[in-house]
Amino acid sequence: MKFEITLKKNTEMNIPNLMKQWELSDFGLNNLKLNTVPVPTPGPKEVLVKTAAVSLNYRDHLVTSNGMGMPLAFPFVPASDMSGAVVKIGSRVSRFKINDKVISTNIAGWIEGPAPSPDIAPSLGGMGPGVLAEYVCLPEDWLSLAPKNLSPVESATLPCAGLTAWMAVFEKGKLKSNETLVVQGTGGVSLFAAQFAFSIGANILLTSSSDDKINRAKSLGISAGINRFNNEDWHHNVSQLTSGRGADLIIEMAGSENLQKSLDAVAQEGRIAIVGVLEAADATLPIFKVLSKRSSLLGIGVGSRKSLEAMCSYIDLHEIRPVIDAIYRFEDSPKAFDHLKRGAFGKVVIEIQ
Ligand SMILES: NC(=O)c1ccc[n+]([C@@H]2O[C@H](COP(=O)([O-])OP(=O)(O)OC[C@H]3O[C@@H](n4cnc5c(N)ncnc54)[C@H](OP(=O)(O)O)[C@@H]3O)[C@@H](O)[C@H]2O)c1
Repeated sequence: MKFEITLKKNTEMNIPNLMKQWELSDFGLNNLKLNTVPVPTPGPKEVLVKTAAVSLNYRDHLVTSNGMGMPLAFPFVPASDMSGAVVKIGSRVSRFKINDKVISTNIAGWIEGPAPSPDIAPSLGGMGPGVLAEYVCLPEDWLSLAPKNLSPVESATLPCAGLTAWMAVFEKGKLKSNETLVVQGTGGVSLFAAQFAFSIGANILLTSSSDDKINRAKSLGISAGINRFNNEDWHHNVSQLTSGRGADLIIEMAGSENLQKSLDAVAQEGRIAIVGVLEAADATLPIFKVLSKRSSLLGIGVGSRKSLEAMCSYIDLHEIRPVIDAIYRFEDSPKAFDHLKRGAFGKVVIEIQ
């Protein structure tokens, strides 16, 4: 009898029938409203998570503004990256138990190996479901255990920004400790990339729109900052700072003419990890320069769950703490989106009490 009572307590965690969820009724943040909806019930292979925190990515700004070319259905719940605790599991769930601390995977169902097509593995907060809600119900394969050493707010920053930097610096970029990395800007992906590079003792150069942000980034171990507003030809500074050799790896964030500058700034046989579209989603490249430098252009599209798990273990082992610019209350989510639009230093996170 005692056993039965304990079991009931563990499997039914005081879950309400209704919850709050931010929904867009159309594109534009003026159409973002906090609505009351039923708490979903997990199917046999699904997990119900009580959301603790949601972090925003630049992509969430693009998706809420214009859908990024995706035919989104309204009402639409934004955001892809969350952390929380498992509160209910379906009858056939085997990977999680009640109270496990979990994070979402950014690209749903990409478990390992090459990325499946977006039809099979949509990204959350895009063609896949969004997470800006008090409870989120997802297939168990779309979740991963959170790092042991991080708070829920910190863990929520990992699925997109953290993993993209991990792929760009390590899994695809293959940065070595005796090499030079250039990171562009002080947003979420760039600062994670700087932290990963610092963890192996690499030389880090950072470009930014502001001297103040460059000074803040010095505490992360960058060896020099280049103000790209005062100095549009930042690639010349990279050349000077590397005695004319250039950088071994560049995390390219902007597209358009910036990619040409990255090509100028990269060393012979160097790598450019193509990550961002902060200026434009296309670029023209001088092919002879690519050929004569024997450069490698690496396309980065977040990463798999296996890579996320490897990154979480690394973060625990190296005691890396995500850089968080601001934490907003769930009720103030539109202010968090405004902050994202202005340009954050690291991550903007929404905490759900
Ligand atoms: N391929 C992928 O898998 C992937 C994954 C995540 C993000 N992304 C892309 O990567 C980019 C950054 O994303 P995020 O979430 O890290 O953004 P974020 O946190 O919003 O960071 C934006 C920061 O980038 C810097 N910046 C703005 N315009 C720039 C420019 N023209 N050149 C260089 N830096 C500029 C600014 O820092 P300063 O003021 O210090 O210059 C700004 O604060 C976005 O284009 C996003 O779509 C791609």
